[in-house]
Amino acid sequence: MITPNSIGARSWVDWRNMNALAVGFMLLALPSLTLGCRQLHAERRVLIAIVFLLLVPADSPDVRQQTTLRDLASARGITLGTAVAAGPLRDDPGYRDRLGVEFGSVTPEDALKWSALEPIRGQYDFADADRLVDFATRHGQSVRGHTLVWHLSVPGWLSGGGYPATELRGILKGHIETVMSHYRGRIAVWDVANEVLAEDGTLRRGFWLDNLGPDYIADAFRWARAADPQAKLYLNEYGAEHDGAKAQGLRALVKDLKAQGVPIDGVGFQTHVMASNRLPGLGDMLRGVATLGVDVAITELDVGMQLPVDALSVHQQAYAYGAAARACLSTPRCRSLTVWGFTDAVSWIPTHYFGFGAATLLDETLAAKGAYHSLACALTIEATCLGG
Ligand code: XIL
Repeated sequence: MITPNSIGARSWVDWRNMNALAVGFMLLALPSLTLGCRQLHAERRVLIAIVFLLLVPADSPDVRQQTTLRDLASARGITLGTAVAAGPLRDDPGYRDRLGVEFGSVTPEDALKWSALEPIRGQYDFADADRLVDFATRHGQSVRGHTLVWHLSVPGWLSGGGYPATELRGILKGHIETVMSHYRGRIAVWDVANEVLAEDGTLRRGFWLDNLGPDYIADAFRWARAADPQAKLYLNEYGAEHDGAKAQGLRALVKDLKAQGVPIDGVGFQTHVMASNRLPGLGDMLRGVATLGVDVAITELDVGMQLPVDALSVHQQAYAYGAAARACLSTPRCRSLTVWGFTDAVSWIPTHYFGFGAATLLDETLAAKGAYHSLACALTIEATCLGG
């Protein structure tokens, strides 16, 4: 049977429309044309209709179920991913089922952060991250590793340890080696450094910059390359989705790293936005950074709404998801689009942004929202979608 997988998303949509026409034509006109019989029995018409319906793929729920965001994205040459929370992955079969079919890539939401991996010095706990990497292997999904150097999620023993700079450098190098070797060959892309910039585009003050100075970023990339030469190494940032001081700082940093020969392969744009954000500059930003000689990706897309939601925000949210996809699709070096959670039941927004929520593609019951349909549409036939 022809499915969206086998004929490609764009032609499948055309085919579905043709199908409705074909069946209508067949029911009304074909009997008289082919059989020359104006008074064909109703039963025969029904029989012929059934034969056609079996031969021609119909726009039925069965067929639609086979079209996932994962398929649509892959037909357009990008990977569609999601962040995954450790608790629901372990405990919730409905969450797991949807995750397994809908996404081509997964990012552990917290399980690979330093304080989760090594809460006590020297005692690594890979259990949660291993569970997700195993899940990804079983479902043919790639994994984004998130993240190796970040000013947050630094375990207490490290931030409060008073280590001198030379020892601290050794600890960071050792951490990168330990974690990346554990997943060598299984995690294809790493967010090596996360959120290294301040709002004004200079390097962000924080544990690593304050203790190691600006070279900690270049060092982390070099150590990461040595630990897993096959992995793609990304710098991941938020708030650079439109032009401004931070975006300029990001471009300057990437240029500088490239000029020094630092092994950086890509730049991730987190893209945590609120529903009123139409993401007007995102495509230009992605293309601008890509011209510096790196891949780009949207790495943490979610679109928060003020609660309780109103019709306008629901519409705006749908628009933003589509706009993000169009920005990536219109950038040849945009490799992937990852959403930061796929159900409103499991999302960081309500707990981190008081009064906001409902930021993801599916509602709490895993039913598709307007955001889902808008993203699917943008991945399919972007020209005819909302705002396309
Ligand atoms: C968030 C997680 O979603 C939360 O569960 C956690 O409590 C805090 O971190 N930018 C990032 C992500 O790079 O790691 C953050 O994830 C969201 C913002």
